[in-house]
Amino acid sequence: MDARADQETTDLGPLEDFPENAFRLVQVGKREIGIYRSSNGEVFAIANFCPHRGAPLCEGAVGGTLVPSAPGELVFGMDGDVVRCPWHGYEFSLQTGECLFIGQRMRARTYPVSIEDGRVRLGDANSGETS
Ligand code: FES
Repeated sequence: MDARADQETTDLGPLEDFPENAFRLVQVGKREIGIYRSSNGEVFAIANFCPHRGAPLCEGAVGGTLVPSAPGELVFGMDGDVVRCPWHGYEFSLQTGECLFIGQRMRARTYPVSIEDGRVRLGDANSGETS
């Protein structure tokens, strides 16, 4: 995808070009970013790069995970907010990029994304970019 950037955001195109419940990869500068549009209308943007060993993170499944609960209980939550790395199964929040595996402090890069006038706009895509 050839995204066009202005001063503050990058226009990624019309929302209807982004299928529900799937990643669509966009290239913005040197960054490959997965845009995920959930069926409940949320849109996430996360780098297609796992901070563990560099897997293409956006090839992973999106779903939920087990969330903290009382002893002896298994509670499933965060449904639709978690991507699971295809290589080693670490889970990352689509909202924050935080690794949800206990004891891991790594974080996948996430980006602000919004829908304006029916178009998907990515914010801050080039911050920290080096040439
Ligand atoms: S490369 Fe993603 S969990 Fe290992």
